Amino acid sequence: MAFSFSSTSTSLLCFLFILSVSSITSSSPTTTTTTTSTIPLSHVHPHQSPPDPYSKLSHLVTQSISRAHHLKHPQIAPSTTTPISAHSYGAYSIPLSFGTPPQTLQFIMDTGSDVVWFPCTHRYQCNNCSFPGSDPSGFPLFIPKLSTSVKILGCSNPKCGWIHNTNVTNCQDCKPNSKNCTQICSPYLIFYGSGTTGGFALVDTLDLPDKKVPGFVVGCSLFSSRQPAGIAGFGRSPASLPSQLGLNKFSYCLLSRKFDDSTATTGLILDSGSDSGEKTAGVSYTPFVKNPIVAGKAAFSVYYYVGLRKITIGGKKVKIPYEYLSPGLDGNGGTVVDSGSTFTYMSSKVFDPVLTQFVIQTKGYSRVLEIESMIGLRPCFNVSDTQKVKLPEMMLHFKGGAEVALPLENYFVLAGDTAVCLAVVTDGVTGPAGEGGPAVILGNFQMQNFYVEYDLKNERFGLRQQDSCS
Ligand SMILES: *[C@@H]1O[C@H](CO)[C@@H](O)[C@H](O)[C@H]1NC(C)=O
Ligand SMILES: *[C@@H]1O[C@H](CO)[C@@H](O)[C@H](O)[C@H]1NC(C)=O
Ligand SMILES: *[C@@H]1O[C@H](CO)[C@@H](O)[C@H](O)[C@H]1NC(C)=O
Ligand SMILES: *[C@@H]1O[C@H](CO)[C@@H](O)[C@H](O)[C@H]1NC(C)=O
Repeated sequence: MAFSFSSTSTSLLCFLFILSVSSITSSSPTTTTTTTSTIPLSHVHPHQSPPDPYSKLSHLVTQSISRAHHLKHPQIAPSTTTPISAHSYGAYSIPLSFGTPPQTLQFIMDTGSDVVWFPCTHRYQCNNCSFPGSDPSGFPLFIPKLSTSVKILGCSNPKCGWIHNTNVTNCQDCKPNSKNCTQICSPYLIFYGSGTTGGFALVDTLDLPDKKVPGFVVGCSLFSSRQPAGIAGFGRSPASLPSQLGLNKFSYCLLSRKFDDSTATTGLILDSGSDSGEKTAGVSYTPFVKNPIVAGKAAFSVYYYVGLRKITIGGKKVKIPYEYLSPGLDGNGGTVVDSGSTFTYMSSKVFDPVLTQFVIQTKGYSRVLEIESMIGLRPCFNVSDTQKVKLPEMMLHFKGGAEVALPLENYFVLAGDTAVCLAVVTDGVTGPAGEGGPAVILGNFQMQNFYVEYDLKNERFGLRQQDSCS
């Protein structure tokens, strides 16, 4: 998902001079790590929530659809996408510390991208970052000159290719692996669909709670649009945090999202210890599906695809065309799990039969179309006359036998005092445009109070329902 500039810009060179980071690293120090680290994982809190419950929900719907468009069409220019909010790239954030002495910043945890980056200059230019509550002068920054261990990533360092998603680095001035090359790895420009960020790559020590990881490649962003804070890419490619740490697995339990501001955190567990291949108690697994590698769609190979086999509503199988459940040779279709999406996204061909089943099977509640059109979720039912709401059960059936019966609060959301709405979004886009990219994106609303495990070593995704994550 990273694209390099064709040439090094002059302003960047000036900046490098100001930085006074003189050393360039062209070697790749190796690290051996054998422990488990736990990092607090917290909700990204809306600074200023819209006042009424309907606009809050409608905001989350817009956000989830924007996110889906970004994942489905990763290379489109920011100006052509739907409006975006401050928190579109992740509902969860983690603190990470870089440098010597360590500087700690918050990062949005994103399984849908790969590069880890932070804003790194007082002159950080952030366009359209004036979200409610955000202070343009107060971006959390990493200051390279305050770290004694920082180096600029050299062009001949094989890690330079990670940032640019290529094995061939464009080092005109250097022979491959030459020791005296002074050319820096060319700047990166990353598109997030609705935003961008650009800068150049540094190498510094990542300081985890119980170990130091030298030689970590991290982006030093000089400018962004719509990306006020750093992002930690957790996707499947060499630049991502799990890859650079050589993790066997990472896991977390998603705190219940009550749309309330809360300071509660759970642990994000980074496991690089010895791997016995054993399953975690009580966890059901489904193998990760081989990612499509399609020219021009490199971003898809970063996503975590899983094999969703069927969806049942009230025990009845919903008819979904197979090509929507599994990625095709063109890289389109299939299901991904995404830490950065709130509500699950389903393309129309998947969503429509799901909607139909809920409507057919829900007796005794009337639909409230006004609320549906106000919020952008459907169906919505009026449950004002009921003490205990009863709706058809929704189950996800995965390849390998894992079955997830979602608790009601994971797929119906309260809208106002009297209505509940299915917390799944669709964009109504049909035809090739709507069908590009993943057809189903499992969002974190559906994973509340679930322990989720990305077992990279054994290529499987695990789920276990918990009473509570705390
Ligand atoms: C900010 O966003 C608006 C529309 O959302 C756009 O017209 C404008 O060009 C953007 N400004 C910058 C500096 O990117
Ligand atoms: C880069 O190299 C690795 C191993 O050397 C190989 O598996 C991979 O396919 C290469 N990628 C590209 C884009 O050539
Ligand atoms: C790099 O080293 C080689 C031989 O060791 C030398 O010929 C060359 O001039 C050096 N290049 C630079 C840029 O110093
Ligand atoms: C739900 O139905 C009740 C009457 O049964 C009505 O008073 C209320 O306004 C309805 N709510 C909505 C959102 O339509």
